[in-house]
Amino acid sequence: MVLHTVYILVLLLVLFMIHSTVPFSVESGHFNMKVRGSQRCSYSKGYGMMSADCYGLDLTEIPQNLRSDIELLQATHNRIRELYNDSFKRYPYLKILYLDDNMISYIENGTFDPLENLEVIRLSQNALDRVPAGVLQLPNIRKIFVDNNRLVSGAGLVGAPASDSLVSLTIAQCHLEELPPLDMFPNLVELNVSTNNLKRILPEQLASVCQLQLLDISRNPKLSQHLSGDGCACHLLASWIADKNILLQAGYRLNCTSEVHDFTRCGNMSEAEEIYDACISSVIAKAKAIQARTTWILVVCIVGTGIPAVALIVFCFCRHSKRKKQKKGTAVNNNILEKGVSRTEEEEGTTTDELLEGKKS
Ligand SMILES: *[C@@H]1O[C@H](CO)[C@@H](O)[C@H](O)[C@H]1NC(C)=O
Ligand SMILES: *[C@@H]1O[C@H](CO)[C@@H](O)[C@H](O)[C@H]1NC(C)=O
Ligand SMILES: *[C@@H]1O[C@H](CO)[C@@H](O)[C@H](O)[C@H]1NC(C)=O
Ligand SMILES: *[C@@H]1O[C@H](CO)[C@@H](O)[C@H](O)[C@H]1NC(C)=O
Ligand SMILES: *[C@@H]1O[C@H](CO)[C@@H](O)[C@H](O)[C@H]1NC(C)=O
Repeated sequence: MVLHTVYILVLLLVLFMIHSTVPFSVESGHFNMKVRGSQRCSYSKGYGMMSADCYGLDLTEIPQNLRSDIELLQATHNRIRELYNDSFKRYPYLKILYLDDNMISYIENGTFDPLENLEVIRLSQNALDRVPAGVLQLPNIRKIFVDNNRLVSGAGLVGAPASDSLVSLTIAQCHLEELPPLDMFPNLVELNVSTNNLKRILPEQLASVCQLQLLDISRNPKLSQHLSGDGCACHLLASWIADKNILLQAGYRLNCTSEVHDFTRCGNMSEAEEIYDACISSVIAKAKAIQARTTWILVVCIVGTGIPAVALIVFCFCRHSKRKKQKKGTAVNNNILEKGVSRTEEEEGTTTDELLEGKKS
């Protein structure tokens, strides 16, 4: 009987877990919902993801009548100007969000808060003046595209929230004159600052993103002028990029053609190296912390399932032998009772035990 209860409990637990991992869908039958007038968003299931395609439908806001289990929303080329804190409330499973080519200029505080699963957001070609802080706060965000906006100096990243998950940032075509601070993104692997008005890039600025592998600094005319004019600046940047194995966007060359041959005059990169080392240490420390946490969870799981299992086995074993003893005892004392206890009652341990106990006293 105890074993039966355990089986049922385990079954219930498994059912509950299956249920809670399968996203529920409110309007599973409503394919091709009407969004506005005759405009329709369509659904598809590409890359194993439930996707809603609302491309180019003249939408002025995020449609609120889509299936709530969508993981990808394609809302490029519409006329959305503003996003509010309830715009995405219904779509908590979104992993990918395309909002390119709208006219987004206002994003209310809390707009992105429901999107805990969001990994990729495209906000290219809008009217933003900064990288939205609400996106940086998302725990799973990996790629942010904000190219072709008119960002304020520093891209709004001064004092912005840090993100350990961010691996790719595109802020090309954004009228930037300086590289924004990047030290909040220690795991950034790709940075695209192409087609801006950057005047200079110092190794110290790149040092804070110690995981950087791919850098697009093409089409920054002032930067090219600066680098060809200042032999030292070009030399320092080029040697940093080479030394840290950073790949420049294909075809782009730092043409360090200058008369400076004695580079010792250019100073050393000890400050950049310090920043770089600090970044590396923090990345390693965080990785270790995550590993330690995973190990602990594993230990807790093993102990957590192991102890009750052992306890259960011990409990069953004791009970079994106790019942055997009791049966022997009563069989001697009372033969009639033994006959009276039916097979089913015998399986239901408690009733049998109660019966025996009652008869004894
Ligand atoms: C959304 O903003 C409104 C004000 O515009 C506010 O009253 C409401 O509490 C906010 N909701 C959330 C979830 O932050
Ligand atoms: C949005 O929130 C930030 C802090 O999270 C606050 O500084 C700012 O004033 C808020 N803006 C509005 C419009 O509420
Ligand atoms: C950088 O962004 C620009 C503009 O969006 C794009 O054309 C270019 O291909 C990007 N570079 C890389 C390396 O992806
Ligand atoms: C470097 O030289 C190549 C051709 O030799 C040119 O196409 C490229 O624009 C130059 N790069 C810079 C940064 O000036
Ligand atoms: C690097 O340069 C700074 C001054 O720019 C100097 O104080 C420091 O001692 C130098 N370090 C090395 C290792 O040469």
